[in-house]
Order: sequence, then C-alpha cells, then structure tokens
Amino acid sequence: MTHPVFSYMLGQHKADMMRLYAETYPEKGSKKAELCADLIDAPTIVGIGGYVGGRLAGFILAQQVCPSSDIIELVVSPPVRRIGIATGLLNQLVALSRRHNISELFLEVAEDNQAAQALYQKRGFQNVGKRAGYYQHEDHSVDAIIMQKRF
Ligand SMILES: CC(C)(COP(=O)(O)OP(=O)(O)OC[C@H]1O[C@@H](n2cnc3c(N)ncnc32)[C@H](O)[C@@H]1OP(=O)(O)O)[C@@H](O)C(=O)NCCC(=O)NCCS
Repeated sequence: MTHPVFSYMLGQHKADMMRLYAETYPEKGSKKAELCADLIDAPTIVGIGGYVGGRLAGFILAQQVCPSSDIIELVVSPPVRRIGIATGLLNQLVALSRRHNISELFLEVAEDNQAAQALYQKRGFQNVGKRAGYYQHEDHSVDAIIMQKRF
C-alpha cells in the first residue's frame, strides 16, 4: 500500500469529506456529513487531509483560536486504519499549530471509544476532565473525556 501523504484541505474537498464521514458514521446520515464538511468554510477552522493513492483517506478539523486549538473531527477510512494516518494528521496539526503560535490542543472523546483514546494517549494527550452525557444517542448518552496536549 502507498504511504499516506498529507495536505491542507479547502472547500473543494467537501464531497470527499462527506464520503469519508458517511463511511465512518453511516448511522448519522448525509445531513450530519454535510454539516461536518461545511465546517471547512469557517474562518477559524483548519483542515488537514491524509491521502492514500490520491484519494482522501482521513481528515482532521480543528478550531484554532490562539493560544489553543480544539480538535472538532478526526476520521480515517476503515480499510486504511492502523497504518498511521491519524498519527500523521495529529503530527501535522501540531506542526501547523506551532506556526500559528498555538501551544495546546484540546479534544473530547467518547468514554467508550477505546481506539481513539489509545491513539491520543500514544500521541501525548492527557485526561483533564469529563463532560457528563456529552454524546446523546437515541436511547442512552455517553460521557466525554476531555484531553489536552501541550507543546
Ligand atoms: C481513532 C482513529 C481516528 C484512528 O485512526 P488510525 O489512522 O487507524 O490510527 P493510527 O494508525 O495512527 O494509530 C496509532 C495508534 O493509535 C492506537 N490505535 C488506533 N486504533 C486503535 C484500535 N482500534 N485499537 C487500539 N488502539 C488503536 C494504537 O496505539 C496505534 O498504534 P499501533 O497501530 O502501532 O498499535 C480511527 O479508528 C477512526 O477514524 N475511528 C472512527 C472515528 C473516531 O473515533 N474518531 C475520533 C473521535 S474523538
């Protein structure tokens, strides 16, 4: 398999972002996928894409307001997980944040999302809090763990 390459995303990547979001969260529907892709137009949002074989295989969106950045979304296409795409996206975001004089990243991750927590812990994020019932599902809610990385 080709190694992933990373580059900044702009409005023209929306269709690919929607495809990827829908592939990752089929239960959330196309409206949610569209809302996610539309975030790329917001002035404080930065987006970085990871490409495999020229096709968008993962992306990260973050809201950058100096001196902190909040990760809004991170998704990697299921067939190309565990080859370092999320790691590359996080590394790129840290590098970009440094250039923007941002020195800390925050994110929320579902308490039952072990894969993402393992990723963030490996990349040096630490648990700094919790938001009760942050993720609302049809018949239950899940707490969010707030994680932070300083650099
Ligand atoms: C979480 C997610 C982004 C990881 O993407 P990825 O490209 O597969 O991650 P990487 O290949 O960079 O993994 C780096 C490390 O994270 C950890 N990790 C990643 N996926 C894991 C899993 N399913 N189980 C356990 N650890 C995992 C491992 O330590 C891994 O290192 P290793 O492969 O050498 O063991 C991906 O599974 C995904 O898109 N999930 C659905 C969306 C999501 O949960 N997003 C995060 C919301 S907060």
